[in-house]
Amino acid sequence: MWELAEKKTTPIYQQIIEQVITYIQDGTLKPGDKLPAERKLAAFYQVNRSTVVHALDELVSLGWVLRRQGSGTIVNEGNWGRSTTPRVDWRSLFTQESHPNEPFLEKIQASLNDPSAMDLYSGELPLGLIPDFRFPSYTWEELLLEEKKQSPLGYRPLQQVICQRIKAEQKIDISSNQVLITSGAQQAMFLLLQVMLQSGDSVAIEDPSFLYSLPIFASAGVKLYGVEMDREGMRVDKLEQLILTKKIKLIILNPTFQNPTGSTMSKRRRNELIKLSQKYQLPIVEDEVFSELNFSAIPPSLKELAPYQVIHLGSLSKIFGSSIKIGWVVADQDLIQRLSEAKQMMDFSISIFPQVIAHTALTDPHFEKNQAALVAALKQRAQAFCEESQAIAADWNVSKIEGGIYVYLTWRHRHLTRKDWEIFLREKIVIAPAFLFSNDTMAMRVNYTRMTAEMRQQFFLKLQTISNELRRN
Ligand SMILES: Cc1ncc(COP(=O)(O)O)c(C=O)c1O
Repeated sequence: MWELAEKKTTPIYQQIIEQVITYIQDGTLKPGDKLPAERKLAAFYQVNRSTVVHALDELVSLGWVLRRQGSGTIVNEGNWGRSTTPRVDWRSLFTQESHPNEPFLEKIQASLNDPSAMDLYSGELPLGLIPDFRFPSYTWEELLLEEKKQSPLGYRPLQQVICQRIKAEQKIDISSNQVLITSGAQQAMFLLLQVMLQSGDSVAIEDPSFLYSLPIFASAGVKLYGVEMDREGMRVDKLEQLILTKKIKLIILNPTFQNPTGSTMSKRRRNELIKLSQKYQLPIVEDEVFSELNFSAIPPSLKELAPYQVIHLGSLSKIFGSSIKIGWVVADQDLIQRLSEAKQMMDFSISIFPQVIAHTALTDPHFEKNQAALVAALKQRAQAFCEESQAIAADWNVSKIEGGIYVYLTWRHRHLTRKDWEIFLREKIVIAPAFLFSNDTMAMRVNYTRMTAEMRQQFFLKLQTISNELRRN
């Protein structure tokens, strides 16, 4: 944006003036927008700073921009009417404040655009591990006939397959009217928020938790409170203190292969949690998106332990990637009805396409075999990660991996700051530091499934170099 396209005979400072005025007139720059600092503009235009200062001085005297001590150069709000095309000032019409992205997340996104960076941040399996299946070959007419199998709760054949899978895995008998198909588990969470919570309500989550960085709660005015975890999962004594002091309305947790720690809540803790939730009549939302990626025995789901107390969320995006954006909520029939009504306010029904594909994927004759092969591959990668992590064991505590896609590494030495974590980006290792999930700055989440043997070797070598630097700092 800040470069001069063609060589003109007019002096450079005039070309800069013309460009800024054009940007203001065509709406690229809006009233109140801040221009880059003088030094940066000089670097962008590859000119002396004095040339930029000259251009800005002229723009100020013409009234296009304002210069304010301490806040730089800003497009003059008073010049709104000077735009050559009439336009609406959309920003003045927004009723809610936007929630700016965490600055580190923006740096992560930028790093992910670099093909030479190692992406251990994304919450998906690598392409090579995603189970393959044959795409359905429907004619348009056949698809329209499938459309007739849609109910307000979703595509009935998919609902039925999900019911069967839940029955088989969790030994709970559920019927189709207790299952709502959604566009992923996150949409399910959003719907629960709409139906069960209002501004000012409080929700208890694990600390750390991936929910900490989701803007949906803050924008609805819902307060999140993190509950400390130990080896067995969320601490029930701490949760009870919170229930007594903060009027908690809902408990949301990810008990199996938790995002970000990868840990699984013990059976004993699950039972204690349910007892507590029954004592205070609090519903629990159990987010179980990773439970199928298990290579060790996992405790019964909370839903299985207390079918009437627990709302269960599932998703296919952790197995098939986020292109199949299909998830589901299993809950009491009345709640499912309300959630469905809330969903219909946004979109009458989910498109038939991802639902037919999800159904095909789950009923593919090779699905069970492919799923077993996937789990075996994850187990192999997890074991190799643990063995090779011996090389960095003096600097990092490595969590045990029993399934799911994440491993959590905690720095053993002095306090790390947010700035320290930028070293990883500089070394092109993209991980998720703990401060994206809590106030902690001492740990990181790594998606170990994304590493081939060669990448693992490279990762541990780089991690040793980074650790040396962190210790020196
Ligand atoms: C624990 C957990 N729950 C839910 C989601 C969202 O799942 P979906 O892609 O189905 O919306 C994620 C995605 O990262 C997750 O990690």
